[in-house]
Amino acid sequence: MGILKLNDVSYTYRNRYQHVDAVKNVSFEFERGKLYAIVGKSGSGKTTLLSMIAGLDVPTNGEVVFGDKSTAKLNRDMYRRQDVAVIYQNFNLFPLLTVLENVTYPLELCGVRGKEAKKRAKEKIATVGLPDTVHRRFPSMLSGGEQQRVAIARALVSSARIILADEPTGNLDTENGNNIIQILSELAHKQGYCVIIVTHDMSIAEKSDVILSMRDGAVTVKENK
Ligand SMILES: Nc1ncnc2c1ncn2[C@@H]1O[C@H](COP(=O)(O)OP(=O)(O)OP(=O)(O)O)[C@@H](O)[C@H]1O
Ligand SMILES: [Mg+2]
Repeated sequence: MGILKLNDVSYTYRNRYQHVDAVKNVSFEFERGKLYAIVGKSGSGKTTLLSMIAGLDVPTNGEVVFGDKSTAKLNRDMYRRQDVAVIYQNFNLFPLLTVLENVTYPLELCGVRGKEAKKRAKEKIATVGLPDTVHRRFPSMLSGGEQQRVAIARALVSSARIILADEPTGNLDTENGNNIIQILSELAHKQGYCVIIVTHDMSIAEKSDVILSMRDGAVTVKENK
């Protein structure tokens, strides 16, 4: 049973002067417990596809279906807060909050506060392999790889079971990039998350279970064995 379904999804950017068919007739079903890589040249439609999966945009044709409901019909604010978590290339941590405060932040938005929030945040910080000594540091006091792990911990405190990452290793060296992919892969395989990453790095894509290659907005699927 899939967790997220793309039914003949297309997206066209339109303005007064032109229209761009960024995603064309994509049908696919994502499952829990798997790591997916979306690859393709610059401009092939990767980020546009991810934005629709994240509920930031709705398809101009077709539908993205989560739990029997199209994202065009469900409450997308709730969907973004509870069902999908997004990780970015530049980490997007709050610079003026400590590591622990960064990770508890999404919990506070859902009304979980104080000791309980801290307890859950500390658990997730440990899950991504960071020591307790980072709790009170600010993001600028961490390496890029450590900052990305904090971003993953922050994604994990929510109830989201879909983790989306646009070039999560883009600002990291090979070793740190591989560590991040290792963590994301374990979250999929051991904890049953559905993890979808965009990458231009084929050596990273090869570590996924399924590769979705994009070309001019169309997708070709390849299972990695
Ligand atoms: N706001 C916009 N208005 C018009 N066209 C857009 C807009 N955003 C993206 N596009 C176009 O849609 C197509 C797909 O863009 P998209 O950002 O999804 O590509 P991408 O595969 O993520 O590229 P990259 O690897 O460079 O991040 C491109 O032709 C792009 O120029
Ligand atoms: Mg992009």
